Amino acid sequence: MSTSDAAGVPAINPSGAPPSALSGDPFQTDLIIQLMKEAVAGSSTVGPSPSGLPASLPTGLPSGSLPTSLLPSASIPGLQTGRLDESGLAGGYPRATTQTHPPVHPLLSPTHPPSQRSAFNSRPLSGGHDPEGSEAYAFGEPRCNGNAFSGVPNRALSPGDKHANSDVHSRGALPTPASFDSSSIGAEPEFYFLRGPSPKPLPASAVHPSTVASSPSLLDIDSIRRDFPALNQKVHGKPLVWLDNAATTHKPKRVIDATSEFYGRHNSNIHRAAHALAARSTELFENGREKVREFLGAASAQEIIFVRGTTEAINLVAQSYGRQQIKSRDEILLTGLEHHANIVPWQLLSQQTGAVIRVIPLNDRGELNLEEFPRLLNQRTRIVSVAHVSNALGTVNPVEHIIAMAHAQGVPVLVDGAQSTPHLPVNVQALDADFFAFSGHKVFGPTGIGALYGKAALLEQMPPWQGGGHMIRDVTFEKTVYQSAPEKFEAGTPDIAGVVGLAAAIDYLFDLGIPAIAAYEHQLLEYATEQLHSIPGLRLIGTALNKASVLSFVIPGKTPQNIARHLDQHGIAVRAGHHCAQPAVRHFGLEATVRASLAFYNNHADVEALVSALRRL
Ligand code: ALA
Repeated sequence: MSTSDAAGVPAINPSGAPPSALSGDPFQTDLIIQLMKEAVAGSSTVGPSPSGLPASLPTGLPSGSLPTSLLPSASIPGLQTGRLDESGLAGGYPRATTQTHPPVHPLLSPTHPPSQRSAFNSRPLSGGHDPEGSEAYAFGEPRCNGNAFSGVPNRALSPGDKHANSDVHSRGALPTPASFDSSSIGAEPEFYFLRGPSPKPLPASAVHPSTVASSPSLLDIDSIRRDFPALNQKVHGKPLVWLDNAATTHKPKRVIDATSEFYGRHNSNIHRAAHALAARSTELFENGREKVREFLGAASAQEIIFVRGTTEAINLVAQSYGRQQIKSRDEILLTGLEHHANIVPWQLLSQQTGAVIRVIPLNDRGELNLEEFPRLLNQRTRIVSVAHVSNALGTVNPVEHIIAMAHAQGVPVLVDGAQSTPHLPVNVQALDADFFAFSGHKVFGPTGIGALYGKAALLEQMPPWQGGGHMIRDVTFEKTVYQSAPEKFEAGTPDIAGVVGLAAAIDYLFDLGIPAIAAYEHQLLEYATEQLHSIPGLRLIGTALNKASVLSFVIPGKTPQNIARHLDQHGIAVRAGHHCAQPAVRHFGLEATVRASLAFYNNHADVEALVSALRRL
């Protein structure tokens, strides 16, 4: 059911039903709000977060290294004046009195220290585990003592020194597998592409020239490509060109080996048994948590919850934080470019509580219309949930501004980082994000593993979502006492091998250097954008000034499905359809696009193969 507010902005309450889930206050909301008030006592105006973090923290971006396309370009409207509601809190935050907006968020300021990477722990676990070390593990009290994987050379090159570490790299690289031609194993599978209307012919949109970055690549792409076995195969007799990275990424040999080694050597359940393999597995798992903490720039590993992926992370927040804090007629603020994973969990919550969903609209480039934001962010808003990068359009949202503006109104923010973590440096403390979610398989790690970051003060107040083993401290038939976060949210045996693989993937990214990845991909995106403009009639969908690694397009007279099939015959993998972001695609009057999405292992030859195949349509 949809309704509109007085100004015509859509307000959505899918059920239209009165709230029922919170009657009886099963989560002891009054007590929790009181505790939250104590946690934030003394801050009636918003500045520092409830966790007391300073407003500006180092993020690891090298000075001046960020491409101009990643810098905020739009002027942000001034903030609204707010006032305290009855409780003085909204979602655990004090309501604002008055707030001025920072001109540029610290994350994007050119004054950061030069490295996001930390020193590697030299103690290898893989292939050389120290049994004494493992047996010294304190069962039930996870410790985080650095990296389990180490010793892989840095693949980032300094300008003018492009091949300086190639010998080191070849020592670190694993043997290249024999070329594999999938056509030898039978017919290619049928596709599920959506049936949508043929796109209407429209002129190609321009990409702003200021988005061009001109510095030379800091990455040795040829060397990097050899780390990814799946890239070295033929499809339909043609070398595979993988341009479906927004759907999932391929895995470096290091990730494959780490996962394989876990099952082949260490395999055990964790935090439970008093034996050596359990100790090793527990240590690997908790080292993985520490690795994710480092990757996200979180203050504590206790703020990292392992989940299956971004989708599960958002469902967790909606069903735990949301069911506790969001009530009938409260408002949940989303944006017009969200993935379904950041829409449907909130709709489910809305059906359960009677809360209302509001949506920040898009402009013609696929950017958020932030002039609408202050009006949509009001005294009833209880959470803002926003993608960092759009999976369908590539838009990089100015989440640092959105967070600052929401906090000025006392509203917490969840950032869906599924599409930003593979491409951009992230620091949740610098962003001051309250929740941040990402998926392992998008960052060159395994499928089925991801993480939710939540500020400690929020996690501690949130009720468990799923019940079961490991998340409890004491169980009787009358009552269960729960563990603290993060265990409180990790019922059952987790994907231990997935965490091990994810840690290896993060190490791999740290070795390359995420700022170097961002700079390289920006150049490649610029090149690909220019090249696609040479295809007659091609219309790019999503031309935001700040964009990352996604090229969605349509071509008049050809369905996206047919274009994708044609490209597949040339060995080129792209996605065609709505990309699980139907509202974003429909904003452009379409039901489907072709989406080519880049990663750091793509190169100019991949782009040229795409363009050449498109010319043969
Ligand atoms: N979220 C993934 C995509 O964008 C599946 O393709």
